[in-house]
Amino acid sequence: MNAIAVIGMQWGDEGKGKIVDFLSEDADIICRFNGGNNAGHTLLVGKEKTVLHLIPSGILRRGKTAIIGNGVVIDPKVLLEEISTLEKNRVKVSPDNLIISSNAHVILPPYIDIDKEKGGSIGTTGRGIGPAYMAKAARTGLRMGQLAGKEAFKARHGGDYFYKEYAAYAEKLRPYVRNTPPYLWEALGRKNVLFEGAQGTLLDIDHGTYPYVTSSNCISGAIPSGLGIPPKSVESCLGVIKAYTTRVGNGPFPTELRDKTGAQIAKAGNEFGATTGRARRVGWFDTAIARYAVQLNGIDSVALTKLDVLTGLGKLKLCVGYKHKGKLLGHFPADGAVLEEAKPAYETMDGWWEDISAARRLSDLPRSAVRYVDRLQELMAVPISIISVGPERGQTIVLRKEFLF
Ligand code: GDP
Ligand code: IMO
Ligand code: MG
Repeated sequence: MNAIAVIGMQWGDEGKGKIVDFLSEDADIICRFNGGNNAGHTLLVGKEKTVLHLIPSGILRRGKTAIIGNGVVIDPKVLLEEISTLEKNRVKVSPDNLIISSNAHVILPPYIDIDKEKGGSIGTTGRGIGPAYMAKAARTGLRMGQLAGKEAFKARHGGDYFYKEYAAYAEKLRPYVRNTPPYLWEALGRKNVLFEGAQGTLLDIDHGTYPYVTSSNCISGAIPSGLGIPPKSVESCLGVIKAYTTRVGNGPFPTELRDKTGAQIAKAGNEFGATTGRARRVGWFDTAIARYAVQLNGIDSVALTKLDVLTGLGKLKLCVGYKHKGKLLGHFPADGAVLEEAKPAYETMDGWWEDISAARRLSDLPRSAVRYVDRLQELMAVPISIISVGPERGQTIVLRKEFLF
């Protein structure tokens, strides 16, 4: 039995949802531990596309338990919409396969208003995520357990304009709300567990590109506190990284491409946000970021996604580190001002022209694609265990199983 973290290594949207959906075939429990409906995780099974914002990506498979942990902030309206969309698509959601932590905080309508008003300079998703974590830290927040407990909610918010609406949501969500840590303590060591990260390493509030970050910790270190389990229960960490780089919202992005090549990658990769529909900024693969993510999260192996998107580029550039004031930086800079001025040092590799979306083994890939993968592996200094060559569940190459279930 194993418990594996799946963590974004860049600025989010690395394809975590696809990888979690793929791995959940062999998982029993799939948990979200951070963020809220700022996340958008896209799953494609056959021709059926599902975008999940709050419910863990294991929900599509039968007989699995999805847990929304205490570290998540929950918009009850969005959660109920997500449940009803799933049910329309013939996915049964009930307290048997979805459990919500009673300690998770609730996103209330005023938080969304504040975020829409003030989130502009960061380019937030405007979903009220930051203000909800602010209320949590200020000890004024409302927890799911209180929302579901009729009296507590009435005592606090009985006079508010949203009271009736939210009391109705509480009625519907009450059966799902539980004290989740004991459930996990029982399961750990006996069942296969996936921890589904939201956002990515560089959006982490402490270790990301502050202030252009989200309002929660998104690295693997957030799993124990976001679920109420001991750190040692996270047995291994799978980092998810795109074969190039993207970012939504504002902030520094050293390898950003503002040219035809960038536009070509954005088009091939359909780089529009799953939550807000905003165009994602695009750039070359950045090993300074990858190595930083490996160190911060303790990544044991990597799932490399969207390799198919690089088909037809001729030459590929790869950032091998940054130069700042004429010197090569040894680490990803902690200081945002240094990152703003850092100039990427590039290596150039041959690309390929073949469509690789039907590849299912390494030997199905063109030689230059294999060389690119090998070089990334060498520079990241961790093994690549999965290569994704398309959005569909089956468009996946498993290179090694030892870090998976
Ligand atoms: P997440 O937030 O990390 O789960 O990623 P998103 O779902 O926001 O964004 C990833 C996008 O890329 C989605 O539209 C996926 O369907 C798509 N995707 C995932 N893996 C691949 C892949 O290997 N190739 C291609 N072409 N698309 C992929
Ligand atoms: P997934 O889980 C990409 C970005 C926003 C903005 C910044 C702060 O799908 O990878 P917030 O609303 O969180 O206060 O916005 O963080 N952001 C994401 N970018 N993927 C995400 O999630 C994101 N969640 C937040 O675009 O720049
Ligand atoms: Mg996303």
